[in-house]
Amino acid sequence: MELDLQDGYLDIPVAPTLNLFEEIKKLKKEKNAIILAHYYQDSDIQEIADYIGDSLGLARKAQETHADMIVFAGVHFMAETAKILNPSRKVVVPDLLAGCSLSDSCPPALFKKFKEKYPDHKVVSYINCSAAIKALSDVICTSSNAVSVVNSFPQDQPLIFAPDKNLGRYVNQKTGRKMILWDGACMVHELFSLEKIIRLKGRYPKAKLIAHPECEESVLELADMIGSTTALLKFSKEDPCTEFIVATEAGILHQMVKNSPQKTFIPAPPNNNCACNECPHMKRNTLEKIYNAMKYELPVIEMEESLRIAAKRPMDAMLAISKQAGH
Ligand code: 13P
Ligand code: SF4
Repeated sequence: MELDLQDGYLDIPVAPTLNLFEEIKKLKKEKNAIILAHYYQDSDIQEIADYIGDSLGLARKAQETHADMIVFAGVHFMAETAKILNPSRKVVVPDLLAGCSLSDSCPPALFKKFKEKYPDHKVVSYINCSAAIKALSDVICTSSNAVSVVNSFPQDQPLIFAPDKNLGRYVNQKTGRKMILWDGACMVHELFSLEKIIRLKGRYPKAKLIAHPECEESVLELADMIGSTTALLKFSKEDPCTEFIVATEAGILHQMVKNSPQKTFIPAPPNNNCACNECPHMKRNTLEKIYNAMKYELPVIEMEESLRIAAKRPMDAMLAISKQAGH
């Protein structure tokens, strides 16, 4: 059979009567596979995953696994990170076109030119970027360790932060730095409507606004708590408040409700009437695509070894700083 990946995934019909939960479980055993999923995945995918986490947790899990096959239910840069850290494993993804608008906002050729304008600057890049951008960076960070990573440089060391200007601005405020920011952003987190959030706060006066640092400054200024997906989840569980307005991708609500069924979680609304608080890239993944990817072991993440080694160096630097800082 010819396996066609023209649309980024294997478009092989799956019988609607097939119990995909059972079939995927069988394939996991048969192939010694592990399914890693980000919190923004559909709830069904979160339910079949062996590990659900934020970008830092997923990178660590990918690095330490002894499974023969890593099935990455997230977006491309996350699966690429798994390959960078654990090259002897086969990394398969449900859909190669599950990308990231933030990563796409930083094309390597343009970034290389930009970097050349600041020869005395070191580069801190958010993990939401391609392997080529990682290779041009001195250290990587995630939303959970960005402040520690930036603080690991002497205060007088000039820095460039890429690609997310919102996270970069937030870290500048937290650290008192004046990092030069690449002008990138996430299409989901940029679309939250401040006006609608303010109206929601009026309707739920006791609710706390919890926000991801990829959100715009005006939303972050209003937030009661700012953090990575894991930090938001932890806060929603441990804080005595019972109502939360959640300004990040709506997939995280699955774990929030599961952890705290007695609490109310209200997804922050986007500034139009579509489901723009859902990441269209994350949502390209489906159980059917996961089943086919595991069965046929396609699509796989592949990378030139020289690029992998260059991208691994700043990843290793991040993991060391992060460990030392207790993240
Ligand atoms: P974290 O889960 O690491 O906070 O990242 C959020 C995100 O946007 C991933 O694409
Ligand atoms: Fe990228 Fe934003 Fe989607 Fe995360 S939510 S994968 S940053 S587009």
